[in-house]
Amino acid sequence: MNVHDSERLSGLLQQSGYEPTTQADDADLVVINTCSVRERPEERLYTELGIIAANRPHQRPVVAVTGCVAQQEGKALLERGNVVDLVVGTQALSRLPEMVDNLQRKQSTRVDINPYDNVSFPLGIARRSDPVKASVTIIEGCNDFCSFCVVPYTRGHERMRPVSEILKEISMAAQEGHREIHLLGQIVNHYTAPDRPKCDFAELLELVHETPGVDRIRFSSPHPRHVTGRMIEAMRTLPKVCRHLHLPVQSGSNTVLARMRRRHTHENYLNLVERLREAMPDLALSTDIIVGFPGETAEEFEETLKLARDVRYNSMFSFKYSERPNTLASKRLKDDVPSLEKTRRIVSLQELQKNIQKEIHRRQTGKVAEILIDAKSRKRHWELAGRTSQNTVVNLEASVEMLGRLVNVRITDSGPFSLRGTLLDEVN
Ligand code: 5AD
Ligand code: SF4
Repeated sequence: MNVHDSERLSGLLQQSGYEPTTQADDADLVVINTCSVRERPEERLYTELGIIAANRPHQRPVVAVTGCVAQQEGKALLERGNVVDLVVGTQALSRLPEMVDNLQRKQSTRVDINPYDNVSFPLGIARRSDPVKASVTIIEGCNDFCSFCVVPYTRGHERMRPVSEILKEISMAAQEGHREIHLLGQIVNHYTAPDRPKCDFAELLELVHETPGVDRIRFSSPHPRHVTGRMIEAMRTLPKVCRHLHLPVQSGSNTVLARMRRRHTHENYLNLVERLREAMPDLALSTDIIVGFPGETAEEFEETLKLARDVRYNSMFSFKYSERPNTLASKRLKDDVPSLEKTRRIVSLQELQKNIQKEIHRRQTGKVAEILIDAKSRKRHWELAGRTSQNTVVNLEASVEMLGRLVNVRITDSGPFSLRGTLLDEVN
């Protein structure tokens, strides 16, 4: 979501006459768009500010800090070594060009961290950085207040985007050649359209499915609590909806889940996994897990390992717990699992997960898979990479014109994090 916000900011600024540059030293305006889902964004921001101050002591660019850290720190950032000119919170992003303009005319509002109800950007403004995949926001903010999570404080309360606007944006993205649409929201499957009676997430999937030019649909992140029968049925019956569900579980222990205020349990989560797999035997699942949450005992952590062994996820993001400002956990619970113990736990979880992925991937060799080629290989310039419907990365030798094509490949080799394949033929 943060990356997509940057695409939207970039589009807005280009509309106001700015051009992007790859030379930081060249820039008249530097925007640092921060995200605080990951650890220590403040430190990374201060490092960046330090670099700007050191490299360009005499001819400083205009510096704007946007996003989560801006939202949290507000005007305190202006005092930070006198480098920051503008502070724009998560809900005021679309005001950035106007604020830059005002600053130049010296009639400045230098800080805007107000909560706005309307957080939409002008339609079609995003300068998408990926030629194949297009992210489209459907919900902003979150009302859930999981005790570890900063999102409700940084991005504000949940606001649904009108379905008419979402579909228009998707049509435009498809016309520009983006074949894969990635629907974004903090709890994406909580969607209900403000402008169309009874339109829920399942119906939205159906509507997106009908949009000409769209070949694949993905979404993140759903919440287990909001997976409905209608949603499962829509995923099962709509062929363009990818067979992959990211289903954050956070912990396998019911007592930890209660302290996290997740409102699901180990048992009802496994039950949901069973229902999903019954409906779609080829569905890939991935998850997020936090280890070392306050008070997590060795036995509670064992429950997480057990759940990971039982579910056998196709992939997993794991995090060591760390405190985030304002959250309920930071106020009420002591961060008491020692750092070394957190490391031990994450290492053993990742080891288990790596072995599971190795086995899952090994079974793919020899099979044929349909992939959408969506990236150049980072390591070898003559290679491209694509993803299966299940979201597994497949590396292959192919020329760069194949970017954006949907092709069949034969899987020839596998590792814990990706597959390798040879090109067979193009689909349609
Ligand atoms: N500490 C560690 N991990 C966190 N996440 C969110 N907040 C924290 C935190 N305070 C993880 C969760 C979430 C993912 C995006 O980041 O697993 O699903
Ligand atoms: Fe954060 Fe929980 Fe909302 Fe997800 S559902 S954004 S983890 S508060």
